[in-house]
Amino acid sequence: VADTRSAPGTGREPWPEINTEVAHVARVYDYLLGGKANFAVDRKAAEHGFAAWPGGLEAARADVRSARAALGRVIRYLAAEQGIRQFLDIGSGIPAEENVHQVAQQVAPESRIVYVDHDPIVLAHAHRLLTSTPEGATDYIDADLAEPKEILDKAAQTLDFGKPVAIILFGILHFFGPGQHPEQIVAELLARAAPGSFLAVSHLANDVFPEEMSETIGRLSERVNQGAFLRSRQEVARFFDGLELVGPGLVQMTEWGLDQPTGQSAVMGGWLGVARKP
Ligand SMILES: C[S@@+](CC[C@H](N)C(=O)[O-])C[C@H]1O[C@@H](n2cnc3c(N)ncnc32)[C@H](O)[C@@H]1O
Repeated sequence: VADTRSAPGTGREPWPEINTEVAHVARVYDYLLGGKANFAVDRKAAEHGFAAWPGGLEAARADVRSARAALGRVIRYLAAEQGIRQFLDIGSGIPAEENVHQVAQQVAPESRIVYVDHDPIVLAHAHRLLTSTPEGATDYIDADLAEPKEILDKAAQTLDFGKPVAIILFGILHFFGPGQHPEQIVAELLARAAPGSFLAVSHLANDVFPEEMSETIGRLSERVNQGAFLRSRQEVARFFDGLELVGPGLVQMTEWGLDQPTGQSAVMGGWLGVARKP
């Protein structure tokens, strides 16, 4: 039976309000992926933001789908090649196709997955993430990455931090500017993880299609609830300090784990790396 600690009617009422006046990152992303958990304000923000994209909104949607597919490849790799059975997916987003638990539990049904997001729309849809196999477990925590201790304490109800865990930070660290010290947050999460744990990060780039990326992010930040801070490959590499990069290393987001890398990123410039804690 799925764990329903945060599900409707189980002590989290009144639910946080869903603001349909301002576009939200989670809902804009859902719209790009073809989901239905978005509002007119989110669709308008996406249309405004990606007007500057070569190929326009449709090309951007294809790029976002490629980025999401890379998440699937990373989880499959961690489960199948590295034997990981515990996942902490922070900034999980609105449930889509191939959520982390579905991919991991296809490889190993006993896998245990904790999802975290801070957006009320994700909380409202979280029951769609609580569909674990009977052998495994899934949980959802409504929390902010700025509070790693709270996340770790709550996740410990489902995950055993004495054993390896994969910490997944996909498309989230770029919402943390330098003043919010994302590297310290990552270090705090890793400090609790057992040796043999993994960190997987995907992060929007300022050194891949720099003009298109900067114009689009600028346009989006006029409309969405969170501004983004693009980083270079070297800056993203710092999140992996003290860890050992595995697989292809720190590569363009949409290319990670492809059997035949094209050597050409989609315009959605970003860096993706997976690394092991020694
Ligand atoms: C671009 S989506 C990425 C979704 C998914 N990880 C993926 O890569 O397909 C970013 C998600 O991070 C969440 N997020 C942003 N800042 C956050 C924070 N400080 N704490 C928790 N979640 C956050 C947003 O609500 C959104 O759902």
